[in-house]
Amino acid sequence: MAASSKKMKLLVTGGGGMLEQTLSPRLRHRSHEVISLSKDQLDVTDFAQVDKVVNEVAPDLIIHCAAYTQVDLAESEHEKAFLVNYTGSENVAIAAGKLRIPMLYVSTDYVFDGTQQRPYLPGDETAPISQYGKSKLAGELAVQRYCPDHYIVRTSWLYGPHGRNFVDTIYKLAQERGQISVVADQVGSPTSTLTFSEIIGDLIETGQFGVYHATDDGVTSWFDFAREIVKTLEFQGQQITVLPIETKDMPRPAPRPAYSVLDKSDLVKALARPLTPWQVALEEYLSLKAVKAPA
Ligand SMILES: NC(=O)c1ccc[n+]([C@@H]2O[C@H](COP(=O)([O-])OP(=O)(O)OC[C@H]3O[C@@H](n4cnc5c(N)ncnc54)[C@H](OP(=O)(O)O)[C@@H]3O)[C@@H](O)[C@H]2O)c1
Repeated sequence: MAASSKKMKLLVTGGGGMLEQTLSPRLRHRSHEVISLSKDQLDVTDFAQVDKVVNEVAPDLIIHCAAYTQVDLAESEHEKAFLVNYTGSENVAIAAGKLRIPMLYVSTDYVFDGTQQRPYLPGDETAPISQYGKSKLAGELAVQRYCPDHYIVRTSWLYGPHGRNFVDTIYKLAQERGQISVVADQVGSPTSTLTFSEIIGDLIETGQFGVYHATDDGVTSWFDFAREIVKTLEFQGQQITVLPIETKDMPRPAPRPAYSVLDKSDLVKALARPLTPWQVALEEYLSLKAVKAPA
């Protein structure tokens, strides 16, 4: 399908979430009409409600941001995770598919097991190792089954201005304690909701449906990511020590993939532009938070 920059009517689920709160304003800035609905306004686990809203709004595209995202809690609450991430996504996909409305489903690197030695391609075998990853993969499959015109966009290590995230946590802990320990044996790519929103904005204008990997550019460990975050504090004269630890030294309920670098060549080709290096995206985020180091 040819690229189009026409103004679209967009229905966004998961209103009030970290991604949605950055994404919707940026889509409006591109002159799209954006109807963003919170869980109270549209509970995606209720098919009758989803079907009614999709019929009434009749959008050009649905961007499905609603999700159960508590990775560790999902190990004990897997029914809840599957209800939102699988059944909820299936509901949206069925309602959209019936009317041949395209949808964009936001997915995750956690659909992979992390044992590969090279970046994961969109078509590589999925093998999630956590309940969250399994529920998100089930959502992907439902979208593929019921909504023929879809974008499935897998991202990773997301942070942004409107939600609890790794960058803010590290920043705060480093400031309070002066010394922090961070896992060094998990490798992936951080992604700012600011740059990810621009990727989504560009992608939906291409009309090129498919499965995409979309993160900020470059590869790092959580340890090196943390070191980059605290640099701003060091520039301000604070002494911060970041200690590398191993995953086994920090047990958590949900296992994480050790290596979740995603190959983004298909996305770069579709967008016909390079992606933002993760360090640049982080700098933009920190400067927005007005914690940028003095020049
Ligand atoms: N955060 C990450 O690191 C990361 C990484 C890769 C991919 N992703 C994906 O990116 C997408 C956006 O994530 P996010 O970080 O913005 O998550 P988020 O802040 O948790 O936002 C998800 C939103 O969905 C809402 N929601 C939950 N159950 C719902 C339901 N039944 N009906 C309608 N809305 C419901 C939540 O509302 P409540 O808060 O009121 O429950 C929340 O507002 C998700 O698909 C996630 O899987 C995230």
